[in-house]
Amino acid sequence: MTTHIQSRPAVLYGAQVSNLNVRFGSAHVLKDVTLAVPAGTVVGLVGESGSGKSTLGKTLVGINKASSGEVLIGGEDVTRLHGKRRRQMRREVQYIPQDPYSSLSPRRTTGQTLAEALDPHGANPVQHREAIAAALERVKLDPSAAEKYPHQFSGGQRQRIAIARALMLEPKLVIADEITSALDVSVQADIIRLLQGMRGTVDSAMLFISHNLAVVQQVCDEVVVMFQGRIVEQGPIESVYRDPQHDYTRKLLASVPGSPGFSLD
Ligand SMILES: Nc1ncnc2c1ncn2[C@@H]1O[C@H](COP(=O)(O)OP(=O)(O)O)[C@@H](O)[C@H]1O
Ligand SMILES: [Mg+2]
Repeated sequence: MTTHIQSRPAVLYGAQVSNLNVRFGSAHVLKDVTLAVPAGTVVGLVGESGSGKSTLGKTLVGINKASSGEVLIGGEDVTRLHGKRRRQMRREVQYIPQDPYSSLSPRRTTGQTLAEALDPHGANPVQHREAIAAALERVKLDPSAAEKYPHQFSGGQRQRIAIARALMLEPKLVIADEITSALDVSVQADIIRLLQGMRGTVDSAMLFISHNLAVVQQVCDEVVVMFQGRIVEQGPIESVYRDPQHDYTRKLLASVPGSPGFSLD
């Protein structure tokens, strides 16, 4: 693996993955993956389709099981948690999928969905009205959005609701898995601006998964490049984009307009 020089001080929270392996039967999908997602930073995870990005994201949330290795979140190894602590950790790590339509219940108003995130048993939108309004404001949605159902929103607005729901729990780690990929370019730009505006205001660590290096450059502090289940390069955005060390990174960058290696063929 190639690492660029980093001057960032060590952080206590966020996520630290060490020598993670994930196998599905005979398929060895993640191979000795080691990376850090420090609190308060957005780390981009790029790589072509099938390279293992979603598998990594889902392993961090506990949807996939690690075959070996360590996943520290807020200093705790989530691969070894059981019972109540394991259920609590489900709130502390939030996964936002590409299409939030599948994860937002069609029969619940936004207010009910957000109230349920705060309080799975009570789920009372009236009682949590202020928290819900604040969460909506954070993603630049009107408080009246609380009364509406998922089908009454555009794709970009639904993605904002999914972001609001993930952030309102003040999780230690947010995994955003291709959250702009299914959106029109102009709506993508809105979500990118929203995420840029949030930078520095959110204490959570964010792993921003994308196959689009131009988007990653706009949203992330650091980038991790995955190729066939391995991390081949990681470091601050500017240094990786300016001076990629791995052939695969150079190839990826050749498709980013404005990058040094950009070519139209
Ligand atoms: N639950 C699973 N069972 C078996 N194979 C899987 C499973 N999830 C992912 N894979 C395989 O792991 C590889 C990486 O997939 P994925 O993590 O979805 O890649 P990416 O998100 O980078 O496109 C693919 O070959 C995929 O078929
Ligand atoms: Mg994926």
